[in-house]
Amino acid sequence: MTEKANTAGDIRMKGSGYYSLATTGAKIVIDGVTPMVLDALDAMDIVDDGKVFAMADMGCADGGTSIDMIGKALRHVRNRAPLKPLTMTYTDLPRNDFSQVFQIVHGLTEIPAYAPEIDNLFVFASGTSFHQRIFPANSLNLGFSATASHYISERPGPISNHVHMVGAKGAERAAYAEQGRADWMRILGNRAAELVSGGRLILVNFCRDEQGRYLGGTEGVNMFDTFDRLWRALADDGAITMAEYEATVFPQYYRDVEECSAPLVDPNNPVYQAGLRLDHIETKVIDCPYRLDYEKHGDAVKFAKEYIPTLRSWSESVFFSGLSTERPLEERTDIIDRFYDSYENFVRESPEGQGMDYVHTYMVIHKV
Ligand SMILES: C[S@@+](CC[C@H](N)C(=O)[O-])C[C@H]1O[C@@H](n2cnc3c(N)ncnc32)[C@H](O)[C@@H]1O
Repeated sequence: MTEKANTAGDIRMKGSGYYSLATTGAKIVIDGVTPMVLDALDAMDIVDDGKVFAMADMGCADGGTSIDMIGKALRHVRNRAPLKPLTMTYTDLPRNDFSQVFQIVHGLTEIPAYAPEIDNLFVFASGTSFHQRIFPANSLNLGFSATASHYISERPGPISNHVHMVGAKGAERAAYAEQGRADWMRILGNRAAELVSGGRLILVNFCRDEQGRYLGGTEGVNMFDTFDRLWRALADDGAITMAEYEATVFPQYYRDVEECSAPLVDPNNPVYQAGLRLDHIETKVIDCPYRLDYEKHGDAVKFAKEYIPTLRSWSESVFFSGLSTERPLEERTDIIDRFYDSYENFVRESPEGQGMDYVHTYMVIHKV
């Protein structure tokens, strides 16, 4: 993997609590998964034998979006096994704002926290990529991950005329599909080794659903096409170079239901052979909460001001990393501000049909 292609350095959610404050939709998604997580726990054999019950949130960002779900899950285990030591490990890439995770989990922010209220609970963090092994073999009871495993470990090549694989065609699209397939196998293979027998994975992934819909690409204005158009406009204006435009590609692949399921249902697949089985998969669309608000208040200025930070929280690092490091930092920051300002102006001037609906697969997996 080349230095240039490796993606770990340029994926970063905005820190200092910005991520959770700006991503209402991601929290709605995770809160909605709570019954699925509790059902998965009910299906597990949890014995109050003094042995550790280990849970993980992989690709946690600042931990704020999953805080309520995880608190409920850990309390659920505690109720079933009052004396069981619990461990909760938050994992993300090394540049993640882990300090913010600990502040949220231990109740140092205004967000209600579970850690101070659950006894015999040990909270940890890991900066190891989920494309690698994070935990020792047979040590993880419940693995959770939301809205993260679409991040591929490397960009398999450029995408002409677009910033995202949803706009890629032909061989370029196929290269991203192959990277997505190989990474998914690696993610699942690693988790298969880590899970205890009878352990569960709850994975909620951005996807392309049965109708071809994806994040920000449901109906109305397409978000990734807009990103591409506005970024290219900066190149057309000479604010960025064509080389910078071409260097900007989201390191992501959105898998469909078949691609998500394949390693788990094919007896010849190494993931299946490692013991992982698919219990459940479904797709759901969660409406963009900012658009729903706009439909109530009708104020386009307010909509644009509230909506753009959610896009910025997860996309800014990708556009930033497309810019030449020969530009002074201040200049790069100005270009990024100008880019998101242009998106905000666009929403303010044409609010109808704007929004970022979430489109996910929801998967429950167990290890035999
Ligand atoms: C869109 S955020 C989702 C955060 C949170 N799970 C949620 O649903 O609100 C994606 C997260 O995945 C993390 N991520 C991306 N690639 C990763 C990798 N290879 N290993 C671990 N985390 C990764 C990002 O750093 C980011 O925090």
